[in-house]
Amino acid sequence: MRHFLSTLDWSRAELQALLDDARALKGGALGNELAGKTIGLLFFNPSLRTRTSFEIGARQLGGAAVVLEPGKGAWPIAFEPGLVMDGDEEEHISEVARVLSRYCELIGVRSFPKFVDWSADREDRVVNAVAKYASVPVINLETITHPCQELALMLALEEHLGTTDGKKFLLTWTYHPKPLNTAVANSALIIAAKFGFDVTLLCPNEEYRLDERYMSAAQASVAENGRTLTVTHDIDAAYRGAHIVYAKSWGALPYFGRWADEKPMRERARNFMVDEEKMALTGGGLFSHCLPVRRNVKVTDAVLDSAACIAIDEAANRLHVQKAVMRALLKP
Ligand code: CP
Repeated sequence: MRHFLSTLDWSRAELQALLDDARALKGGALGNELAGKTIGLLFFNPSLRTRTSFEIGARQLGGAAVVLEPGKGAWPIAFEPGLVMDGDEEEHISEVARVLSRYCELIGVRSFPKFVDWSADREDRVVNAVAKYASVPVINLETITHPCQELALMLALEEHLGTTDGKKFLLTWTYHPKPLNTAVANSALIIAAKFGFDVTLLCPNEEYRLDERYMSAAQASVAENGRTLTVTHDIDAAYRGAHIVYAKSWGALPYFGRWADEKPMRERARNFMVDEEKMALTGGGLFSHCLPVRRNVKVTDAVLDSAACIAIDEAANRLHVQKAVMRALLKP
């Protein structure tokens, strides 16, 4: 039995097979791999795209989706092993995962970091606990990475750029008033490196480097592909010649849990907002973002409404890539 928890566990060839299947599904290929089957979707955090696309995708494959929001209509869940459960949680993930495995053929989990202690959050305990106790495949719906978003992005880039090998991928930090999850940034970094891009990570300073697990994975991928990984704080140099500018905001990891201390540094970096002037430096590059996006805070209206913006295409692809993932995991 295989899970879809991180693309680090999947080879480029396996991921490309998922993308090829997603393209076939998008082109009208039909599937009924979920006929009579159900995916249980555990959402610990809000969602528009992930929830909608999984519910619709399950239905299009002949099955059903059940959405559960622990603590809001479903019992609050504890995760740590050996816990004395005298707090707010009413049941343990060991029961939840085993019961859902009797009802459902797939389980999806969205669980963001707690934003207090990165050394704990980086263990991705919630989704790993579900995978440990479940007897059906588990899909990561965004935890400290967002593998479904990665596939949607890569499908959009293959559609717009053709081959991705040797193209320039710019992952730029952008301003947001809150210290956000690093999941999509981690994901963009590792998938771009795996798919043969020369990758540049642009961020305000060294404090905004991503976790070493993802930096070193990206470094290993670019080395394998004969490409490069560059970290820079020079906005003009980073944008020049980029084929794709991918924007995301995240909280600086050394300040994890001390967000008031990070705030002044974040405020000084408002100039990282993606705008037309910066995009002009690319010489015709594309722009994308995972969404949701705060207009004129992270990215200007002009960029989001330009022909260069493929964020809606990327979001649309969530439906197709997730159907490919679901049916791949259900293969006997
Ligand atoms: N990009 C993404 O996962 O969107 P939602 O948070 O709306 O699901």
